[in-house]
Amino acid sequence: MRFSTKTVHGHDYYDERFGVFIPPIYMTTIFEQPDRATGETRITDRGTELKYSREENPTVRAFEKLMAKLEEAEDALAFSSGMASISCLYIGILEADSKIIIPMEAYGTSIQLLLHLGKFGVKTVKVWPSTESVVEAVDKSTRLILVETLSNPTLKVLDIREIAKVAEECGSILVVDNTFATPVIYNPLIDGAKIVVHSTTKYIGGHNDVLGGIIASSKETILELWDWRRKLGSIMTPMQAYLNLRGVKTLEVRFEKQSKTALEIAEFLLEHPAVEEVLYPGLTCSPYHEVASKIFKKNLYGSVIAFKVRGGRSRVIRVLRNIRLIKASPSLGGTESLLAYPVISAAKTIPEEDRLKLGITDNLLRLSVGLENPEDLKEDLDQALGG
Ligand SMILES: Cc1ncc(COP(=O)(O)O)c(C=O)c1O
Repeated sequence: MRFSTKTVHGHDYYDERFGVFIPPIYMTTIFEQPDRATGETRITDRGTELKYSREENPTVRAFEKLMAKLEEAEDALAFSSGMASISCLYIGILEADSKIIIPMEAYGTSIQLLLHLGKFGVKTVKVWPSTESVVEAVDKSTRLILVETLSNPTLKVLDIREIAKVAEECGSILVVDNTFATPVIYNPLIDGAKIVVHSTTKYIGGHNDVLGGIIASSKETILELWDWRRKLGSIMTPMQAYLNLRGVKTLEVRFEKQSKTALEIAEFLLEHPAVEEVLYPGLTCSPYHEVASKIFKKNLYGSVIAFKVRGGRSRVIRVLRNIRLIKASPSLGGTESLLAYPVISAAKTIPEEDRLKLGITDNLLRLSVGLENPEDLKEDLDQALGG
């Protein structure tokens, strides 16, 4: 099965009784035990008991099977949000004295949670978001490395293959948050990562209307984390699974179209007199273009662009107030274009000194390009920038 076919049929659901091949919402918490005397349950295809929807649910399972196929993984687990998957991962894999390496520009809540886990002895090492800095920090005492395929908000790209090599040598587990690249252009497991996580709230669900998280990995790791998910109670709901299944069917066409529009908008902003700088790895002038083109497929770079407005904070606020079609909101990857101000959203928790070194200045805006017509988006940006 090729990629787009997997997005449509990869759930493997088929109900013989009615000929139904669209996975329905199994709105049930309970499943009958076939053997009343022993209480024996039905068994799922991964060998777990099907008895209670905090553990297993057929709609959720359909989404997991599809996501495992898209990420070239043996199996997957679905969660109520991206953070639910990341917390299950931390709690399931880290020990009291574990060392974890994470770039300082990783998703803020992923870093904050780790710092809170310090109270149980977890040691977090925040490093500069570059391949060299991550590689340099890894040693035999490193339990986990968590990196993102594109950093947020300045869209730096790390060479995951290089990081995977050193992780292997040191016996560390490399986890890649693939939310920003998606399996359309990148499969971290093929490049040597051991675990992939996603906030499916972004491109996978794709319509800015449903939360979700996924972990994809080997059968063994998924079974271990399955038990943690059961105890933490963080499984995806059947309704969320249904909407994520529906959204993911169009992932490839949406990602391609949104990435193409994003490149067009990035080129437009590059020429705009009110714009000082554009950060987008799809631009040939980007310092990350080479590594991004090496690791990502299809010459696509996603739909998130960052740009600096000339004139500082007051001009940025003016742009945010003036946009009409584009909405001021901090998410990304969905059908509606969204503009976010990182210093008050994604980068709010990064200390100012680090923030400035990372290039997250007071005049930086992050745009997630949706499925609107590019001309309408350019017109909206032009009038908001005072063009
Ligand atoms: C890269 C990345 N990972 C994880 C998350 C957390 O996902 P969720 O908001 O679905 O909990 C986000 C949310 O913005 C994100 O951008």
